[in-house]
Amino acid sequence: MTSSPADPSAEAGAPAVADASGTQGAADAAAQPTAVEPSSRTPRRQPTPGKAAEDPSFYRAEPVSFVRRGERMTAGQERAWEEMKDELLIDVPRHHASTSILPDAVIDIPGAFEHPERPLTVEIGSGLGEATAHAATEHPERNFLAVEVYTPGLAKLMEEVRDRGLKNVRVMQANAPEVLDIALKPGQVDELWIFFSDPWHKKRHHKRRLITDAFAERAATVIRPGGTWRLATDWSNYAEQMRRIIADSGEFVNVHDGERSGLDSPLTDIRRQEIENREAEPDFVDEEGGWAPRFAGRTLTSFEAKALKAGRNIFDLTARRV
Ligand SMILES: C[S@@+](CC[C@H](N)C(=O)[O-])C[C@H]1O[C@@H](n2cnc3c(N)ncnc32)[C@H](O)[C@@H]1O
Repeated sequence: MTSSPADPSAEAGAPAVADASGTQGAADAAAQPTAVEPSSRTPRRQPTPGKAAEDPSFYRAEPVSFVRRGERMTAGQERAWEEMKDELLIDVPRHHASTSILPDAVIDIPGAFEHPERPLTVEIGSGLGEATAHAATEHPERNFLAVEVYTPGLAKLMEEVRDRGLKNVRVMQANAPEVLDIALKPGQVDELWIFFSDPWHKKRHHKRRLITDAFAERAATVIRPGGTWRLATDWSNYAEQMRRIIADSGEFVNVHDGERSGLDSPLTDIRRQEIENREAEPDFVDEEGGWAPRFAGRTLTSFEAKALKAGRNIFDLTARRV
């Protein structure tokens, strides 16, 4: 178990890899490939001093799907972190960045639980921990691992775990693809949940999206045969990307293939409206469908509530590992 939240400043001393993006903003800079050789024609831009500490993608081969947000915790969250970290936080040895994992680290996730033999649900990007806290309360017979980089979110979950007296929750503060590659072993996961993954809705930022074909391969490795991958998003273009990734993967089947198509599809509905920074397409019909009913085990988080209030539709997908 570890002792302190991942400290972005811990990354400052690591070797910086510059991007070649010219003068774009932080998100743009982060979205650039990080291991590009400088061309003789394009001078390589040096990272702004101090920015590398905030932007872990300077140290990674793939752009990361998150930006480090404010790490300030409330007094209650700080107290919960101090009281609960030794019990709940699974320690990981770091590589270059403060949310990275050392590639040859040996981490025993089931062994961190009181009952290692119980089925494991992993929630990636747990935010404030609402879904994990709810599900862990409803299912004391299962183990839950929340993976998140945002320290106050993990501390909020720790508060809930303490106040509800939950014994079946552990948390890991790390970049999700590295958790799947290094910390989780093949077949260890019974259910993998990713609810409202950051949509990176601008086209030039799509490369930062977490759910990609490569991520599906990682998911297929850690989910046991017959296990479940649940996804939800409020952004239709990302929903279509997720549906396509599941359809193309030979290792998952869409449990609701063909369901909720045509006028029953949330995609048809949303495309016909002027929303999500798009013009309305009044004749659009989603012939494909494949959307799951709302997962009953997914509590309404504050993030989803805001999306609904803004008039967005929610897309659920359920995939089974073959
Ligand atoms: C839009 S929020 C949704 C939070 C929560 N699932 C909910 O429904 O309220 C996405 C969360 O994913 C986290 N996240 C994004 N990329 C991540 C990554 N590569 N590893 C771990 N967490 C990540 C972010 O820090 C953020 O808290």
